[in-house]
Amino acid sequence: MAFSRRAAVLITITLLLFGLAVIWWTGGTGGSFAHFLYLPILFAAIELGVPGGVGAALVAGGVVACLPADAAAGAQQTLLSRGVHVTSFMAAAVSTGAVVHHLRVQRVRIQNGFVESVAALVNALEASDDCTAGHTVRVSDLSVAIGKTMGLSAGQLEVLRDGAVLHDVGKVGVPHHILNKPGRLTAEEFSIVRAHPTEGDRILGPFSHPHAAEIRDLVRHHHERLDGSGYPDGLKGEQIGLMARILMVADVYDAVTSPRPYRTAMHPQDAVAMLEDEVRAGRLDGDVVGVLRRLVLDGVRLVG
Ligand SMILES: [Fe+2]
Ligand SMILES: [Fe+2]
Repeated sequence: MAFSRRAAVLITITLLLFGLAVIWWTGGTGGSFAHFLYLPILFAAIELGVPGGVGAALVAGGVVACLPADAAAGAQQTLLSRGVHVTSFMAAAVSTGAVVHHLRVQRVRIQNGFVESVAALVNALEASDDCTAGHTVRVSDLSVAIGKTMGLSAGQLEVLRDGAVLHDVGKVGVPHHILNKPGRLTAEEFSIVRAHPTEGDRILGPFSHPHAAEIRDLVRHHHERLDGSGYPDGLKGEQIGLMARILMVADVYDAVTSPRPYRTAMHPQDAVAMLEDEVRAGRLDGDVVGVLRRLVLDGVRLVG
């Protein structure tokens, strides 16, 4: 929707009043100005959906039915003329609202389809390794749980969910033997792994979505740290938004509570203690870790 609901209602009322006034000034509904009323009706149907369009059509039809056909000649409208006005206004409202609704549903499906396709790619990547299987789904669920507790809006939670689902998509460019290497990585291998946030951002470059920029920002910045020690851009403090702060905590929590070939999984409470050390060191957000701590203590099912 291009306008807020309130603005759309105000514009519709203004256009209706203007249209009715023009019909009145020009002497009645017999002139071509009666067609002006399609403007508020179509506008309301596009911006407010079928109910808004029907509401505008009823108001326009009701008032037009009371106006004369030709005031100067003293000619009233016939019953048929009144009926035609109301019926055609209603038909315009319902058909336009329905088409716009259908297009919006299709657009959301296409957008979600893209996220789901890339998520399937990430799942396939994770499935090749028992240790990381299900990582993105868990990180996404945990991020949304933290975000909800912190009062994020429904729209922000959707962005956070999609950003978390896609956050490690750049790992498709990291060779399998490096991703699953049981021992320490060499400096060169480490730099390849560290490129996955920028690679993910690049992969999502052609991503057409109303929140593409925010989602790509999450993908690119999920390894940043508040003290500037993270990568790839070394962002600091306020340069890192709340959603990225949530995602980085959820990502670390899931990583350390999942087993690796070279270590066992940490107990959730030990993981929280480790994250609190990171807060004290200035690397992670204390409010986010505090919320995670409460979720863990409340026994929310965060792993598996
Ligand atoms: Fe990552
Ligand atoms: Fe991750």
